[in-house]
Amino acid sequence: MTSMNIKPPVKVVEWVGDGQRGFLRLLDQTRLPMEQTFVDCRNTKDVWDCIRRLVVRGAPAIGVAAAYGMVVAAQAIDDKDFGPALTDAGEYLKTSRPTAVNLEWAVDRMIRSAGGLIGKNTAEVAEGLLREAAAIHAEDEAMCLAIGGHAASLIEKSQGVLTHCNAGALATAGIGTATAGMYVAHARGKSFTVYCDETRPLLQGSRLTAWELAQAGIDAVLITDNMAAQVMREGKIDMVIVGADRIAANGDAANKIGTYGVAVLARHHNLPMYVAAPHSTFDLSIKTGADIPIELRGAEEITEGFGKRTAPRNIRTYSPAFDVTPASLLAGIITDRGVISPVNEENVRRVLG
Ligand code: MRU
Repeated sequence: MTSMNIKPPVKVVEWVGDGQRGFLRLLDQTRLPMEQTFVDCRNTKDVWDCIRRLVVRGAPAIGVAAAYGMVVAAQAIDDKDFGPALTDAGEYLKTSRPTAVNLEWAVDRMIRSAGGLIGKNTAEVAEGLLREAAAIHAEDEAMCLAIGGHAASLIEKSQGVLTHCNAGALATAGIGTATAGMYVAHARGKSFTVYCDETRPLLQGSRLTAWELAQAGIDAVLITDNMAAQVMREGKIDMVIVGADRIAANGDAANKIGTYGVAVLARHHNLPMYVAAPHSTFDLSIKTGADIPIELRGAEEITEGFGKRTAPRNIRTYSPAFDVTPASLLAGIITDRGVISPVNEENVRRVLG
């Protein structure tokens, strides 16, 4: 079976209706795995709020949601001043989460596309923007399949694969990035086990990755983050594969907090660690990971996660949501345009073209 036949197991982001009156429908990932419910966004504030609260999350899915968010924003704008007003709406959406570059990438692409619609009437602007957002959506799905094609041979050689957070179908419009090779290898009949780091504090590994892999019939084993070293030492892991939220020109990669620690452990245990990401996750305007903005999250996510207080009242907290893995710890970056290895600026620019 080729990777082209594989469909994402869930619909994370969807546009309902036409450009002028339609709306954005998002699978509410805060309720997974217990409930599959949806949130409809009919104005820019709704979209901002859904991205901020992680109703939709994962860098590529955030980008697709933001693209449709720009269609929602355009619906509320008077045609004569739509250029500056749409730019303002885009800047507002960008403030929802700072680390995933796909958000600004998608918003900027929508603004450039709107530039070509000046002089058109409101209906034509709405339909034109919806076409662009739908193109971003379809391209994301195709990029996941392309990543899966490149990653599958690596997964097929492994008995045990460790992943962190959720860089799966739930984080994209397609079959995920880190999971793409897993879906392709599984469809080809290969058997392997995926160890899913639970991923404190919001548990994307257990609530989302373990859930979606199990739904797809892929052998998934849930571990807590602090078990990874022991599981590696026991020889259960052959490779690590994770996603990314922003990758600098030299290949330094920001991903969910804890990824850097996994990379250090993988190096210690002599295991190859790969990042899988589409070209839209690269930010070639920054030279190294030191310039990647790291989102800080609220105290309650670590003091009373999921409504249960587990820390003293008034304790001071610090909660960076992402960390940066230096390129030197990566065996490669698997993109839709090929595999970057060894990871350095020259190879990043060559593979991305
Ligand atoms: O805070 P989240 O859940 O949006 O963080 C997501 C991640 O860190 C993912 O691993 C990353 O966005 C890659 S998604 C294909």
